[in-house]
Amino acid sequence: MARPRELRFNAFNMTAPSHNWAGLWSHPRDASINYNTLDYWVDYARTAERGLLDGIFLADVFGVYDVYGSSPDTAVAHAVQLPNAEPTLIVSAMALVTKHLGFGVTSNLSFEHPYQFARRFSTLDHLTQGRIGWNIVTGYLDSGARGMGFAAGRAHDERYDAADDFLTAAYKLWEGSWEDGAIRRDRQGRLFTDPAKVHAVHHHSPHYRVDGIHLAEPSPQRTPLLYQAGTSKRGRAFAARHAEAIFLNGQTKPILADTVREIRSAAKAAGRDPYDIRLFAGATVIVAPTRAEANDILEDYSQYVDRDGQLALLSGWTGIDFSTYRPDQAVQYVESNAIQSMVENFTLRSDQPVRIGDLATLSRVGARSPFVVGSPQDVAHELIAWADETDVDGFNLFRLVVPESLNAFVDLVIPELQSRGVYKTAYREGTLREKLFPGRGPLLHSTHPGASFRRGAPPATNAVRSDAAE
Ligand SMILES: Cc1cc2nc3c(=O)[nH]c(=O)nc-3n(C[C@H](O)[C@H](O)[C@H](O)COP(=O)(O)O)c2cc1C
Repeated sequence: MARPRELRFNAFNMTAPSHNWAGLWSHPRDASINYNTLDYWVDYARTAERGLLDGIFLADVFGVYDVYGSSPDTAVAHAVQLPNAEPTLIVSAMALVTKHLGFGVTSNLSFEHPYQFARRFSTLDHLTQGRIGWNIVTGYLDSGARGMGFAAGRAHDERYDAADDFLTAAYKLWEGSWEDGAIRRDRQGRLFTDPAKVHAVHHHSPHYRVDGIHLAEPSPQRTPLLYQAGTSKRGRAFAARHAEAIFLNGQTKPILADTVREIRSAAKAAGRDPYDIRLFAGATVIVAPTRAEANDILEDYSQYVDRDGQLALLSGWTGIDFSTYRPDQAVQYVESNAIQSMVENFTLRSDQPVRIGDLATLSRVGARSPFVVGSPQDVAHELIAWADETDVDGFNLFRLVVPESLNAFVDLVIPELQSRGVYKTAYREGTLREKLFPGRGPLLHSTHPGASFRRGAPPATNAVRSDAAE
């Protein structure tokens, strides 16, 4: 399938005062200290829909950043993704004030049970009328596991093994428990559902056991649109099976292009069309009517980015305590139990040393992914170049200062991209999945392994279906 010309964007945020640029909450014009109010999110969603953005992508972290200096103090003092709030709970309010905007919600499965979790996302899919996506993560902070009563989190690859199993159980619930046409809502006949079309799921596996009927009736997409983030070797294998959209990083075009190539070929090896996965790179975009004004904004924001806070984030993400590093020291490769792909991007994949001092700044290196500053024409040109040279489909726009940064992108960059014919001028109808994959229908595509659990569907060609679990 030819690569679509259309560029796609998600507004990337988190239910916390501070997100990926620590310290920006202290900027006098930033509204993110109101992260725990509906007004903040309702405004944000309206702006994203005004820009015809594909969605809002909500990160989430389960745990506290306590790797830096082996203490949570920096994270606590500088609001490093703490305090944070439960992201699923704000989706309904945003869905109420929008019509087309999608919602990609990060939800960690490591401490969840598929039976409970499946109902929650079916409910979100109903309430958003098919606009929900799930960013599948397994967590990288041992502090979260300790909070849940475990000594530590699972080992890196084991987290993915459990995730494979979790998804299998969830597919059975979303796709296989209620047949199409089960729901009758027949008031005259006093029949709400045809019991012959509802089936208990029996999933017995090392990680999860389910014996029961899915609690929710089939939602518009049945299985939420599946996002994933994590591109280590094991992460790519997981993504090739399950992901419909992937969020990835890469601080240079060659690094990002390599990762994209590897993901698309892994999908092919898993029996899927390599372009049946939409790839979104993180992107930090600062735009103003002129290049000079944009650089002034960069200068202004840079003063608020907190060095220690940024290093606390990076230490948690990589599992490396950067308080032991000098600023001029380059990141050394270690086999991380946290985000391996990030460590690899800074070391094995990089032809330049990546220095700690640079990583802690609002800069191209510090951005870990595309970093674009300039006029609307500059920004449009660079984003198109990143997409063309790396084969990503779009970008997750990192939160900077809310609401002005997203407003500027919507007011200045979107019209420029439209005038260049690489961005939509209106939303398509339909669910999030139909908007991301036009002409494909609201449900998982038949080549996606999850579709094989739909009653009457042909058995999966690629080996996600583990009969041992029946
Ligand atoms: C771009 C990106 C964004 C991520 N966002 C989150 C997140 O919001 N919450 C989370 O718990 N993990 C997040 N992760 C971590 C991944 O889900 C995954 O657990 C981790 O990357 C380990 O996988 P890897 O070694 O394959 O990269 C993210 C990872 C990447 C690369």
